Amino acid sequence: ARIVVLVSGSGTNLQALLDAVASEGAAEYGAEIVAVGADRTGIAGLERAERAGLPTFVCRVKDYEDRAAWDAALAEATAAHAPDLVVSAGFMKILGKEFLARFGGRTVNTHPALLPSFPGAHGVRDALAYGAKVTGCTVHFVDDGVDTGPIIAQGVVEVRDEDDESALHERIKEVERSLLVEVVGRLARHGYRIEGRKVRIS
Ligand code: GRF
Repeated sequence: ARIVVLVSGSGTNLQALLDAVASEGAAEYGAEIVAVGADRTGIAGLERAERAGLPTFVCRVKDYEDRAAWDAALAEATAAHAPDLVVSAGFMKILGKEFLARFGGRTVNTHPALLPSFPGAHGVRDALAYGAKVTGCTVHFVDDGVDTGPIIAQGVVEVRDEDDESALHERIKEVERSLLVEVVGRLARHGYRIEGRKVRIS
């Protein structure tokens, strides 16, 4: 399967996918990353892609007259690489109608909380502030809501009394990276069906 990864930051989830393909081989893993897209320049995620010799593209919201135009441009730039699957790994923009018209049902997102708890851009901070005793990460298909699509897999992480947001997020990311590698490989190697809120991977 051909995969395009969308990033907005450090790209450690992207790196985990790159490392999995490199160590297992694209045939064995069942997928290859063909391009990396971002909504901003100057991020480590793009450097990781360039180091891996991958094509990259950047679509910045401010370069377009409105959000719909940005969404259409992102969809175009993504489609240029003919992906079978799109992975949003720390991509911090909501994918809109245009993008989902083309890639809905084959775009997955990873979120650093146990959805439906703590959706949105501050899932780690919100779980900590709430006093949750366990949190974790969720890999799900993207639908037209915010972190509301059908859940594929989740991983649980204990919250420790001494945790601050970054310590907890780092621990979550350790689980998140292996969960994402495992899910993406399974989706790539096997067929899958989305039945309402259930995901069946054959
Ligand atoms: C991940 O925890 C992701 O779930 C969240 O931001 C983090 C991105 O990390 N949205 P990275 O850019 O993959 O290192």
